[in-house]
Amino acid sequence: MKKIAVLTSGGDAPGMNAAIRAVVRACVYYNIVPYGVRRGYEGLIHSDIKKLSASSVGDIIHKGGTFLKTARSQEFMTKEGREKAAASLRSLGIEGLVVIGGDGSFRGAERLTEEGIATIGIPGTIDNDLAYTDFTIGFDTAVNTVLQAVTKIRDTSTSHEKTTIIEVMGRYCGDLALYAGIAGGAESIIIPEDPVSTQDVINRLNKGKERGKMHHIIMLAEGSGNASKLQEDLLREAGESSRITVLGFIQRGGDPTSADRILASRLGIEAVELLRREESGLAVGVRHSNVFSMPISEAMKQKKKLDQTLYNMAEILSV
Ligand code: F6P
Repeated sequence: MKKIAVLTSGGDAPGMNAAIRAVVRACVYYNIVPYGVRRGYEGLIHSDIKKLSASSVGDIIHKGGTFLKTARSQEFMTKEGREKAAASLRSLGIEGLVVIGGDGSFRGAERLTEEGIATIGIPGTIDNDLAYTDFTIGFDTAVNTVLQAVTKIRDTSTSHEKTTIIEVMGRYCGDLALYAGIAGGAESIIIPEDPVSTQDVINRLNKGKERGKMHHIIMLAEGSGNASKLQEDLLREAGESSRITVLGFIQRGGDPTSADRILASRLGIEAVELLRREESGLAVGVRHSNVFSMPISEAMKQKKKLDQTLYNMAEILSV
């Protein structure tokens, strides 16, 4: 393979730049010409593609976001859109494409293989919601971002003896809330994988109060509801007043942690190695610390399971 393009798609995640850098540097190392596609599949459709070099990805490993920009493309959902995208690549003689993104982006990559383009998917999302891989690029940074916020909120929550609800992202996956909740010492962690009633939350609050605890941090995953609703329910059903913090988009930004930079570098190089071996339609990931790949179609069929051990740990630690 002589030319490979890389794009980022869907919600950005810290570490995407490190992954782009790894793809580009691996290409240069193997005498393959690297190309960058701007704004994900939108850029592919509109031929917004430029040649990159080892130096064009200098000084980005430490930066959040994605210097290639990202987008969610409606046009790419159509057959015509995908045909245009494949034609853009072919007109430049590009045979391989590395897609960095989440599940929607992976499905797009899989469809592009049907248009004759060799594609490899790299998991990049703060949600950690791709079942086939232990971790996605950006998750570790997002956990640490949430953790910093929890640590600060804890100070004021303790001083004022208040109940605080912190709503975090993650779409339908509770990992961000679970990991940050455990690391931040949250008293309650509410995740979509194990729905709880308001009464369950009240019982836990009361249990804390019985042992003299006057502050309570509730970590709420966005897939389980929203903070304002829970705040109202607690007031109405238990007379419990609380403060809310919705962390929002700060969770998507920031300098990637070393774990995310290293994961991104490993997966970026592996993607290029696979394309060199004429492989296509594969998702790269990490399992038990080892890099591996599997067909995107198989990866997308896997159902994300709750890490029951971690979840039980949260229960024990907040006794
Ligand atoms: O997938 C990443 C994510 O940040 C989710 O956690 C969140 O639900 C969603 O993207 C927000 O998407 P948008 O950028 O379209 O508002």
